[in-house]
Amino acid sequence: MRNISLIFKQFSRSVLLVAGLVVCGLTAHAQTDAAKGEAIFKAKCTACHKIDTRMTGPALGPKLTEETDDAYLTKWIQNNQALIAAKNPKAVKIFNEFNQAGMTVFAELSDADVGNVITYIRADWKKIQEDKAKAPVSATPEDKGPSSLVIWGLLGVIVIAFVVILVLNKVIATLERLLLNKQGILLEEDAEEEKVKTDRAATFKKLLKNKKLVFFVILCGTIAMGSFSWVTMWNTNVHQGYQPVQPIKYSHELHAGAMKIECQYCHTGAFKSKNASIPSLNVCMNCHKSVKTESPEIHKIYDALGYDPNTAKYDSTKAKPIQWVRIHNLPDLAYFNHSQHVKVGAIKCQTCHGPVETMKEVYQYSPLTMKWCIQCHKRTEVNGKGNAYYDSILAAHDKIKKGEKVTAAVLGGIECAKCHY
Ligand code: HEC
Ligand code: HEC
Ligand code: HEC
Ligand code: HEC
Ligand code: HEC
Ligand code: HEC
Repeated sequence: MRNISLIFKQFSRSVLLVAGLVVCGLTAHAQTDAAKGEAIFKAKCTACHKIDTRMTGPALGPKLTEETDDAYLTKWIQNNQALIAAKNPKAVKIFNEFNQAGMTVFAELSDADVGNVITYIRADWKKIQEDKAKAPVSATPEDKGPSSLVIWGLLGVIVIAFVVILVLNKVIATLERLLLNKQGILLEEDAEEEKVKTDRAATFKKLLKNKKLVFFVILCGTIAMGSFSWVTMWNTNVHQGYQPVQPIKYSHELHAGAMKIECQYCHTGAFKSKNASIPSLNVCMNCHKSVKTESPEIHKIYDALGYDPNTAKYDSTKAKPIQWVRIHNLPDLAYFNHSQHVKVGAIKCQTCHGPVETMKEVYQYSPLTMKWCIQCHKRTEVNGKGNAYYDSILAAHDKIKKGEKVTAAVLGGIECAKCHY
């Protein structure tokens, strides 16, 4: 009997152990699924999709809650173009809904990969919704206690009351004095005051006669005025801090900051040529054909291009280019080349333009004076290692040393930016 109960105990223990292991394994498995899915989503999908809002493609959270046919979704994600070509009604419908924007084909993703992505998106969407439901609770504490407006109002009232009391006091004192004066009583205080006044005038006259002092005062005045006008003259035509209002409320804080779009995506020129260049509106349309289509600011882009969002057609006769207001502007007598600094010198945009990715509206961060250029040139060390530009210059110098033939082209004489503005 004892034996049987012992065996039974051991058996049940091992069953428990196995069950425990299976549960642990399953949860660990589910976790890695979502984590794997997240990695794939971040690498491959975030360029066009967000979980909670529409971007180039639909918001995937609501989409995948609504669409539960995982087999269809897997096919779509792996090769949406095949589905569209085969005239799958769901595929054709969404394709047309998005003006035939077209999604990338992800043939390299296995069924398991796609499953992981779908698991991640659904889990994250659930989390977002739960957080939203919780949000109002955490927001209430802010509403408690007096608002700052009330506090400032109270302070204002106190200050005004204080001032009124002071003024009233003064008025009462003056009235009292007038009354006493009328009665022929001259207060001691007043006599004292008269005396001080005559004394002061005498001292002032004495000081005026002191030539050294007068000279000193005039000297100080001249120096102050001189340095003031010197500084003002140096700063004429320096537009540091210049921040004009642009025709479209385009925000670098949002696009380059929050959305982390590379500067290069829009200012391609900075790496290749003299000018960083302002992007044409077609660059904006890569996204804004389908992002925020209802915004009046985005409609300014459509109007400028003669684009009709309803028909998705361009009419060039209606186009009228946007006039961005230029912020940075060197005088024509100075030559500044972006690629020399950004590409060859490897200087970050922010060194000269400041934290652009935090600016709602761009302003001129640096003074752009000659002193500014020269000071940086004196301080910045050039890094010649692994730099194609210097490799070519060094190679040319070697050739010159050896007495070999070197053309101006080898020294960069056929690069467009060396001759052209
Ligand atoms: C180049 C942009 C782009 C990328 C990258 C992209 N998509 Fe899409 N996606 C779209 C567009 C645009 C649509 C809307 C349909 C269309 O126009 O083809 C769409 C539609 C979808 C749909 C809806 C299908 C339906 O029938 O409703 C799903 C699901 C989807 N994408 C998932 C993904 C996943 C998952 C990834 C990453 C592995 C991904 N997409 C990457 C652009 C993209
Ligand atoms: C999505 C496109 C886009 C991206 C990304 C972008 N910019 Fe711009 N940038 C613009 C547009 C459009 C303007 C003109 C309107 C304005 O001044 O805001 C501009 C203007 C500027 C100006 C002022 C030009 C002048 O008139 O003197 C500077 C400087 C600048 N960008 C730097 C940057 C830097 C640095 C980054 C990366 C951190 C960056 N931009 C990323 C589109 C972009
Ligand atoms: C890579 C995609 C992308 C590009 C390129 C892009 N934008 Fe945007 N932009 C967005 C997204 C996404 C939002 C909306 C963010 C949100 O949900 O509020 C946005 C918002 C805006 C808004 C605010 C609209 C509003 O009413 O809130 C303006 C204005 C805007 N963009 C202008 C531009 C201009 C001008 C360009 C070209 C120089 C440009 N964008 C290029 C993705 C892009
Ligand atoms: C060494 C300092 C320096 C660096 C680094 C620099 N810029 Fe500039 N940037 C300038 C100056 C100076 C001007 C004014 C040029 C002019 O008026 O000819 C300017 C002008 C601009 C303009 C106005 C349009 C134009 O081409 O003149 C844009 C846009 C711009 N810069 C973007 C960028 C971006 C993006 C980067 C990084 C990739 C960058 N800059 C790096 C100094 C710099
Ligand atoms: C943030 C520092 C910095 C500022 C500001 C700066 N430069 Fe430069 N500049 C450099 C560096 C570093 C190089 C060397 C790049 C290289 O060739 O390796 C350089 C190179 C140059 C060259 C090429 C010199 C040559 O013969 O190779 C010119 C021209 C030039 N800068 C003009 C300007 C002008 C004009 C300004 C002001 C509007 C300016 N720079 C502001 C750092 C700066
Ligand atoms: C060695 C100096 C030099 C280089 C390098 C150079 N150019 Fe020129 N380019 C000139 C001169 C000088 C003119 C004016 C000739 C004339 O008016 O007959 C010119 C004229 C032009 C014109 C015609 C402008 C007009 O209004 O008629 C274009 C376009 C042009 N160049 C583009 C380029 C491009 C693109 C590159 C780089 C691949 C380049 N250039 C490299 C010196 C140069």
